[in-house]
Amino acid sequence: MDKTIEKIVSLCKRRGFVFQSSDIYGGFSAVYDYGPLGIELKNNISQLWWKEMTHVHENIVGLDSGILMHPKIWEASGHVGAFNDPLVDCKKCKSRYRADEFSNDFVSINWQETKCPKCGTTGNLTNPRQFNLMFKTNVGPVEETGTEAFLRPETAQGIYVNYQLVQGAMRLKIPFGIAQIGKAFRNEIIARNFIFRTREFEQMEMQYFVKPGTDDAIFNDWKNKRLNFYLDKLGISKDRLRFHQHGKDELAHYAKEAWDIEYNFPFGWSEIEGIHNRTDYDLNRHEEFSGKNLSYFDQPNNDRFLPYVIETSAGLNRMLLTILADAYWEDKKNNRIVMKFDPKIAPIKAVICPLVKKDGLPEMAREIMDILSPHFKVIYDQQGSIGKRYYRQDEAGTPFGITVDHKSLEENTITMRDRDSMKQERISIDQLLETIRKVI
Ligand code: GAP
Repeated sequence: MDKTIEKIVSLCKRRGFVFQSSDIYGGFSAVYDYGPLGIELKNNISQLWWKEMTHVHENIVGLDSGILMHPKIWEASGHVGAFNDPLVDCKKCKSRYRADEFSNDFVSINWQETKCPKCGTTGNLTNPRQFNLMFKTNVGPVEETGTEAFLRPETAQGIYVNYQLVQGAMRLKIPFGIAQIGKAFRNEIIARNFIFRTREFEQMEMQYFVKPGTDDAIFNDWKNKRLNFYLDKLGISKDRLRFHQHGKDELAHYAKEAWDIEYNFPFGWSEIEGIHNRTDYDLNRHEEFSGKNLSYFDQPNNDRFLPYVIETSAGLNRMLLTILADAYWEDKKNNRIVMKFDPKIAPIKAVICPLVKKDGLPEMAREIMDILSPHFKVIYDQQGSIGKRYYRQDEAGTPFGITVDHKSLEENTITMRDRDSMKQERISIDQLLETIRKVI
């Protein structure tokens, strides 16, 4: 098989996209660090999402709320009571499983008659225990009751508790949205498949506040818009994307309706983004727990109501994994690996190479760096044969290879190599910036 998760992990380490956290200490489970190419790629993705949400839609604004919040927020949201995974242990080999890995209908399973998948023994699996996924910490120097706080497991609650302040400050009229990008933390029992499920990750969430009764139509609209983002903006293959509607047994405690956008990863179809109709569940609960009136006043219609919320919730790291998996291409004919990123999100847009390290070519290549680098990320490379330099950048997903040769000095031109077709064309240095700009 061409695309395996192992090959993608290995390329990510080799080229500086993603590293296991705390590598020199043997790693730290389910946490990852982003290297020089990873952070460029991650920034490009999040900026694209931010533009799509807050610049293109004039009724959607941004927010950056704290990771630590009043602990009562998590009681109100239901996370203290209901954000649990069922956990099963093997008493013999100490392996740990999520009960729903065995079956969605795990309540009907007779655990005493079930084999441990790791050690193969029967009679050693415990009955499922509920395990809360929130990380706890203590605020202040002394660990005592009343100082306990949680690392947020979703960014959404920061939006709900600020919604009236944002609405008032920006004089927003319903329907309107609030978008946020930020870290979230979950003490996942089973963390596997590289950066797909980790304990520390980033979410890109948008909460759209609507009048009850208009929610179903607006929900469908967002469902389609979000799928189109993957197709049109990120350039993900259509046949590897699909919707999955949550059945009654899958719905989160807050949702009336939920659809996942799924991608066909090397390990199978899995969720990358959720679109949820959360009704007035969260605002209702925050009214109850805070004692504050959170209703919205619809002045033109002299009407007061608690808005419904349509949520679009994407994981930045999962989106990045989707892009890595989709872009990975083994070009057998030319014996190379290519990351076919859409040029818009490619970490490096062009590599600039003097053909040889003499005759004034490096100086001219540096001048081209000076022209391009204020506009987008480019790198300079004069090490090794030109073929090797190109192949290195194919693995990094750099769409353009710019070479300065002897003709460049005479004609003020360079050759520009296309990453995917490997075709080269000679273009004038005066047109270079505009030519690349058009594509990215
Ligand atoms: N606010 C709603 C919410 O958090 P969710 O389905 O639990 O809903 C939304 O999470 C998205 O966050 C998922 O589709 C996924 O992309 C990302 N996500 C959730 N848990 C994650 C984890 N442990 N590691 C990486 N990404 C995760």
